[in-house]
Amino acid sequence: MARPVSPAADLHPALLPLDWLLGSWESDEPGEGCFTTIKPFRYTESLSFSHVGQPVINFTFNAFHAETKKPMHREVGFIRMQPGTNRVAFMIAQNSGLVEIEEGELTAQQLNLQSRALARLSFAREPLVQKVSRAIRLRPDGRLEQTVSMATDNQPMTQHLHIVYRRQAAADSGKIRRDLM
Ligand code: HEM
Repeated sequence: MARPVSPAADLHPALLPLDWLLGSWESDEPGEGCFTTIKPFRYTESLSFSHVGQPVINFTFNAFHAETKKPMHREVGFIRMQPGTNRVAFMIAQNSGLVEIEEGELTAQQLNLQSRALARLSFAREPLVQKVSRAIRLRPDGRLEQTVSMATDNQPMTQHLHIVYRRQAAADSGKIRRDLM
């Protein structure tokens, strides 16, 4: 019996300014991790940004050890834009037990975000993160670049991560083919 064919979900118009994020991204070269209190490290990371037609982008960030390929840091979340403005909000859950709301502005194809609210497990490992600042931008060469800084209980705002990604899949990978479900 023929299944009904319905079109893939269109991107919600409120998210058109963020369409450059959609799809899958893989780190190009390993990213660089650092912080005043830790040994510098290298990692790879896969990003996915998708949507189901709601005014929300769904995302996953999965980081791996550059040499052993073992899973490391992971983030999942949602992105919303305040309609009619360039204000963007990220809702993020991290496998470390940290949960964040980051907000900021979209300027051309660059997002500058600051944590507005942080929550964590009652048994979170110290030092506790006090603030996060994140920049995500599409470079003129088509690569995506992410830089993350943080402040902890005992360190001021300092860079923790820098990484560049190459696009893996077309922007419409976020669309749902309901006819295939
Ligand atoms: C917003 C995202 C992130 C936050 C808030 C965060 C937070 C932290 C904090 C608070 C520390 C301990 C610093 C200290 O001891 O003074 C740390 C260490 C570390 N982070 Fe991150 N991190 C993030 C993302 C990542 C990512 C993507 C990776 C990639 C693998 C990573 C890898 C590490 C490593 C290897 C260490 C040192 C060893 C350890 O403490 O586990 N982090 N991070």
